[in-house]
Amino acid sequence: MKIGIMGFGVVGGGVGEIVTTNAESLKRRSGDAIEIKRILDLRDFPDSEFRCFTKDFQDILHDDEIQIVCEVMGGTKPAYEFTKQLLESGKSVVTSNKELVAKHGTELLQIAKANNVNYLFEASVGGGIPIIRPLYSSLLANELTQVIGILNGTTNYILTQMIKEGESFENALRGAQEKGYAEKDPTADVEGVDTCRKIAILASLAFGKYVCSDEIPTEGISKITLEDVAYAGEIDRVIKLVGMTSKEDDGVFARVCPVMLKNEHPLAGIDDVFNGIMVKGEGLGDVMFYGRGAGALPTASAVVSDVIEIVKNKGEHIRLGWTEGSEGYLKDGDLQNFRFYIRIAGTPEQSAAFHREGFRVITLDGEKYQNEFAVVTPKMNEKSFAEFQEKELSACRILGKIRLVEE
Ligand code: HSE
Repeated sequence: MKIGIMGFGVVGGGVGEIVTTNAESLKRRSGDAIEIKRILDLRDFPDSEFRCFTKDFQDILHDDEIQIVCEVMGGTKPAYEFTKQLLESGKSVVTSNKELVAKHGTELLQIAKANNVNYLFEASVGGGIPIIRPLYSSLLANELTQVIGILNGTTNYILTQMIKEGESFENALRGAQEKGYAEKDPTADVEGVDTCRKIAILASLAFGKYVCSDEIPTEGISKITLEDVAYAGEIDRVIKLVGMTSKEDDGVFARVCPVMLKNEHPLAGIDDVFNGIMVKGEGLGDVMFYGRGAGALPTASAVVSDVIEIVKNKGEHIRLGWTEGSEGYLKDGDLQNFRFYIRIAGTPEQSAAFHREGFRVITLDGEKYQNEFAVVTPKMNEKSFAEFQEKELSACRILGKIRLVEE
């Protein structure tokens, strides 16, 4: 089987390495030799061991020998047009491109089906963790109710460095970039956009209907400080960026935000670049997926496993996907209740108003905590929290706000 690769960056390079290094075992497992025939990239790679680079997409599109293309270029332009043309011309496409799947997955999956080819995207969520296939295959017998996960390696690496090493946000981000975890523009990682695309894909797949990532309330970690980390530690919790989605009566709930998890929560111990995803199902209970969520080889291994899946199912369309979305399907956040941590500028004496039932006041020792304190509220929904804030906190300077997740 001859394959093409579009994009020779971190993941594309990893695909090249795995296909070359593991040639024998890939042949044994898929039943066919997998060979890279063309690599599309606008840059030059004079020192590469590969001699099949092209700058012209047509060289892949019109090559009848190439039946599977790995789209690992990222972004939607030109990846969307290229993928569409490849599927329409009868080639299968496998991808790590979460932005494209989250935005145009519904259409691309329909085109793949109409042309009896495949559009597979195991590498788009969780890097090397198998999570897409379990959702459309192994867990099919279950009515799924909830998915919650640490879905971004870069932000988990940053938070771990802040929590365990007391490192600044900026230094930790630099480390993630050097290790090849971060997106080209790391804002997508840091502001939760990458997690949002991934939870949109998981929500669409788990509950069978398209959830648009643009509509999911999303908050990143750029406002998290070492002080927040210290308050969380005081109440035996850690801060993690999560994507969460659950099935509601006639729709779904989804949100991306930093949360405080109890130290014993299954996701609390997931550190560094690792991702963890908990799937709940009726009858099934909790299932947990864990592994490296970013980086060249973990992500490339998921891309290549999709290639093998297609080679093994020669000529067959693998059934996966979701139906079109509908207005009102994504419910607003008011359905969910959280306890809120709020960090407030003021003397510990000013915290007196919050020493009451259902609330918890946290103060920390040390010079820098002299003029501030934190409050944890009882459970309330977003609307009640906004009212509480308006009524009781309008005279306070709020330094931070994070939701608490219990299970
Ligand atoms: N930037 C992403 C992350 C890459 O850090 O998780 C993997 O999707």
